[in-house]
Amino acid sequence: MATGHYDKPDFWAEKARKEGYPARSVYKLDELDRKFGVLRPGLRVLDIGAAPGSWSLWALKRLDGRGFLSAVDLQPLGISPSYPNFFFIRGDLYDDAVKAAIAERGPYDLVLSDAAPATSGNRGLDTDRSEAIVEAVLGYADDMLKPGGSVVAKLFIGGGQRELLDRMKASYASARAFKPEACRTVSFETYLIGLEKK
Ligand SMILES: C[S@@+](CC[C@H](N)C(=O)[O-])C[C@H]1O[C@@H](n2cnc3c(N)ncnc32)[C@H](O)[C@@H]1O
Repeated sequence: MATGHYDKPDFWAEKARKEGYPARSVYKLDELDRKFGVLRPGLRVLDIGAAPGSWSLWALKRLDGRGFLSAVDLQPLGISPSYPNFFFIRGDLYDDAVKAAIAERGPYDLVLSDAAPATSGNRGLDTDRSEAIVEAVLGYADDMLKPGGSVVAKLFIGGGQRELLDRMKASYASARAFKPEACRTVSFETYLIGLEKK
């Protein structure tokens, strides 16, 4: 589709506001989930780079009171969900203490990461930092994802996509990149999806 309401810069943001989500990125997760069927009631899920909290809120609704959600971000959440099956830690995903607190609540059926570096204006630096985050997210998945589990990780497209997908192909029955409609205006971002951890 070359034109249409999706192209309006405020379309998704306005929809999110009306539906009670703090960020438009929720519709990327909706689309990823509809395509890959990763979220179900009862799963244990980890949400990395969770603030302001749209993905977490969406995931908690999809878990339907069953299962568990752990979430981490450098920033506080803009939501205050009173779900007993929710744990949020404010901190750096690279921090060992943060990783240990998350591991304690695992293992997980699904690792989600919408984490992205603050953009610096230097495209090469930003994509390098994004690739490093994806590497770290794959490390979480290596350590905390159950066999049969899945990972979804945002990547700023630079030179490293092929290498990351090759790494994922060794550990998952399938690995591919997918760009949701809801983020196609941000042309340099995609999501790497690994299904069925070996
Ligand atoms: C696009 S936002 C996530 C939006 C979120 N999925 C939502 O729907 O509300 C990216 C997030 O990644 C977080 N982030 C970036 N680097 C991080 C790090 N090293 N540790 C933890 N969080 C990080 C940022 O603080 C930011 O909140």
